[in-house]
Amino acid sequence: MVISEQELEIQAQNNVYETDDLIAQYCEFHYGNEYFSVKNFPVTCVQALMKNVQTNNITTDRALDLGCAVGRSSFELAKNFLHVDALDFSAGFVQQGAKLQAHNRLRYTVPVEGEIIEYKEVLLDKLGYGEVKDRIDFQQGDACNLKRQFTDYNVVFAGNLIDRLYDPALFLRKIEDRIVPGGLLVLTSPYTWLEEYTDKSNWLGAKKVNGENFSTLDALKQQLSDSFAFEEALDVPFVIRETARKFQHSVAQMTLWRKHKDNSMEFYR
Ligand SMILES: C[S@@+](CC[C@H](N)C(=O)[O-])C[C@H]1O[C@@H](n2cnc3c(N)ncnc32)[C@H](O)[C@@H]1O
Repeated sequence: MVISEQELEIQAQNNVYETDDLIAQYCEFHYGNEYFSVKNFPVTCVQALMKNVQTNNITTDRALDLGCAVGRSSFELAKNFLHVDALDFSAGFVQQGAKLQAHNRLRYTVPVEGEIIEYKEVLLDKLGYGEVKDRIDFQQGDACNLKRQFTDYNVVFAGNLIDRLYDPALFLRKIEDRIVPGGLLVLTSPYTWLEEYTDKSNWLGAKKVNGENFSTLDALKQQLSDSFAFEEALDVPFVIRETARKFQHSVAQMTLWRKHKDNSMEFYR
């Protein structure tokens, strides 16, 4: 029997469960169950940053979700912003958000124990994103080397990204230009620096300087203070399921930085 391309596409949509371990883990983290009463991380982050957006009366035209992974924060941002660019280095990750956007459903499996797996399905309409999904443009991209078109954002959200970048300081230096004056840069991270991702010489803080502790927050303040006002820091816990009986429970620090409205720091002093 000859199967047409269209039928193949329908089969792919209907039958393929995402089984790549890390992708499936992130699908469950973003769209799956809540564990130990810890609220959904991407949703909580966007709700928290929106409080600041509202307090500061920041325009809600354009948002950038950097390191969006499988895209939950991008959909949540789309409830609030007219346009959302959603970028991730990993094409495999970003394709999951794009699949959900195109086909209104996502299927994946999660490990239970050993060979035993559980089948999961996520429906876009059930999540309440049906009306806003087309505001998002999912693309593969590098946060440290953004294409020119990614600019003029009212909000840039980088969720648990900085400690996974090869050059976080370069990212922080460059991102300023992509944010409109008065716009917001929102970073979250559990600051789990690993040489596997970031050469130790590029870690932001997380080290001793002249015998004193120099934390990532200290380094962020040092690096961002010329262009941004530090707004606030808050803790956002998250749980990532590994198997039915093994979980990672972490606490990210969310920091919010408001870009100065003109080039003069005096303006804000
Ligand atoms: C720890 S995950 C966090 C994902 C998601 N924001 C969240 O909070 O669940 C880090 C993400 O950053 C992405 N990433 C790593 N380096 C990147 C880069 N240079 N540019 C864009 N994304 C990158 C990874 O592919 C991964 O999806």
